[in-house]
Amino acid sequence: MRRREFFNAACLFSGALLFPFTKLFGKNFLLNDKEKIWTELIDYARWCPSPHNVQPWKMKRVSNKEAHLYYDPLRIPAVVDDRSSFTTVGMGMFIECLDIAARSFGYKVIAEHTPEKQMDASAKKFKLFSKLYLIETNEKVDFDRELIKQRKTSRLQYDGRRIEPSIITALTNISARDGYDFIYSADKELINYSIELNNETVLTRSDEKTTREEMCKWIRTTDKDAEEKKDGLWYRGTGASGKMTHNFFFHHDRFVKGWKRKESLHILNKTMRGTSNLAWITGPFENRNDWINAGTMLQRLWLEMTKYNIYLHPFGTVVTTQKKNSNRKLIMMKARVRCGSWSDWAIAVNHLAVSDLIQKIF
Ligand SMILES: Cc1cc2nc3c(=O)[nH]c(=O)nc-3n(C[C@H](O)[C@H](O)[C@H](O)COP(=O)(O)O)c2cc1C
Repeated sequence: MRRREFFNAACLFSGALLFPFTKLFGKNFLLNDKEKIWTELIDYARWCPSPHNVQPWKMKRVSNKEAHLYYDPLRIPAVVDDRSSFTTVGMGMFIECLDIAARSFGYKVIAEHTPEKQMDASAKKFKLFSKLYLIETNEKVDFDRELIKQRKTSRLQYDGRRIEPSIITALTNISARDGYDFIYSADKELINYSIELNNETVLTRSDEKTTREEMCKWIRTTDKDAEEKKDGLWYRGTGASGKMTHNFFFHHDRFVKGWKRKESLHILNKTMRGTSNLAWITGPFENRNDWINAGTMLQRLWLEMTKYNIYLHPFGTVVTTQKKNSNRKLIMMKARVRCGSWSDWAIAVNHLAVSDLIQKIF
């Protein structure tokens, strides 16, 4: 061996000793194609929506056909979601994303859920949510898995177009499949009422110290913070500037009354402009199974909208605040959505990387 070749080989070898392969190339490098399936499925599911973009999911690959889904207790917004119902909906959505992504490999995902009644935000370590199995199947789903990556929440103004009746029928059928009613309205008065109620609820909840403190954990008021943390609510998706969003949450006393209060309401109202479609979903929502099923349904519904470039803004705060506002007329509503055709205003927020979802458990 020539001197230079020997030197190169020696450097590579010692480099490998200092930096194991997994560090140099990532753990996926060492997996064969079958073993990589879970990594590929997670690469789709990581785009799943969650309340406050908390992304509580963690995955552990057990074998080519089995993986365990955990949640990170520190990522549960326990104040606003006291029963963890909405966070559990998100977990159901995540499983649905894995299932849709798995169909391209000829598999479906079957979940065996733990008997836990609700998620435990006080747990000291990641908690098992379900055991997931890949089962061979010929059953197809109506969703191209790329839709999972295209879907986004839009909190900014819409373009006033109404959703086609044939799409409403498709959405109604998707909800009905899991036992839910999708109720649609284009009534201006009802839309305005709902927007007002949502905005008022958002402001009232922000006035509560514990709610606000929890929100402060998830609000990303600089681009750097959003880029580094890859989770939470990025100010760019809210219609307000980073500075104003920061002040609203971290110096909220300035926003409880006066012109700053009015300005906050004005911004919220501005982002609702052009809303010409409203829908709400009713159905079973009492226990963990219901929440997981609602998640399956909601993910399919959202992907169906994505097929037609229809964007969705869930009005979750109205629902989670119901009990605290017993005079509200919305007791029957389980989830409320704003739908509208997209016009360049949906901001793509960051989502955690595959390695963030698997690294701590592998
Ligand atoms: C169950 C559930 C409830 C949600 N509730 C609200 C809500 O009340 N207000 C809101 O602006 N976004 C809500 N969202 C949207 C999330 O904030 C959004 O999915 C997350 O920030 C990630 O952004 P993306 O959907 O664009 O990927 C909700 C999402 C889920 C899954």
